[in-house]
Amino acid sequence: MGILDKHAILERSPTLLLVSSLLVVTVGGIVEIAPLFWLENTIEEVEGMRPYAPLELAGRDIYIREGCYVCHSQMIRPMRDEVERYGHYSLAAESMYDHPFQWGSKRTGPDLARVGGRYSDDWHVAHLKDPQSVVPESVMPKYAFLSETAISGEYIEDLLRTHRFVGVPYTDDQIAHASADFRVQADPDGDWDALVERYPGAVVSNFDGQSALTEMDALIAYLQMLGTLVDFSTFTPDASR
Ligand code: HEC
Repeated sequence: MGILDKHAILERSPTLLLVSSLLVVTVGGIVEIAPLFWLENTIEEVEGMRPYAPLELAGRDIYIREGCYVCHSQMIRPMRDEVERYGHYSLAAESMYDHPFQWGSKRTGPDLARVGGRYSDDWHVAHLKDPQSVVPESVMPKYAFLSETAISGEYIEDLLRTHRFVGVPYTDDQIAHASADFRVQADPDGDWDALVERYPGAVVSNFDGQSALTEMDALIAYLQMLGTLVDFSTFTPDASR
């Protein structure tokens, strides 16, 4: 018993108990937190990851505004059923440029972390306008108004700057061309070489099929790039770290 009896001293003195608990928590805290200051990076760097192109970033804002995250997650867990259904499990690096991240906590609809390229743009237009027209039993709401809401990209440069402010490494060149890149991504006849150079792998397409640039274009540009940046045929996790 010896040492256990001594515990009674702690239990009978609130001050002593408080001070000792603080001490224990401090030691635990230091052990967990301190190493992070000496690690160069807590996220494994992965080839292919790049900041969002301006139109994709605008589409991401619409995704957040419309609350798509309420029904959709963007986080494939490393479990067999998930990987077989949705594709390779999500890597930390894949949300390194997300402010805030869109992991979500509820799946009324499927996970969207790798939905990019899975469907055609036309499918997305039809589905977003009237989900039940393609999936009759769907409970997803209709977002037809997105094709009627034009976007000008007036504040796109500020949006990129804001993301740079919170740590996304947008270059001066990317910010200077934000407005042009924003428009040309939805214009396959335009001069989009520089856009693809600045944002490798960016999909250029007239996403909504209309000549005007709409919120539908931006949202689909975002959906079509989700989970497509990392090439998983060549990716090997760096376990040596
Ligand atoms: C009320 C819940 C709900 C909301 C809100 C919602 N969805 Fe869905 N979504 C669903 C359900 C359920 C499905 C599966 C049936 C279907 O395909 O319509 C789905 C399917 C999808 C799919 C097809 C995924 C796949 O792999 O087949 C996409 C893409 C999608 N939603 C995008 C969105 C976007 C973008 C928004 C926001 C503008 C949104 N959803 C909002 C419930 C929702």
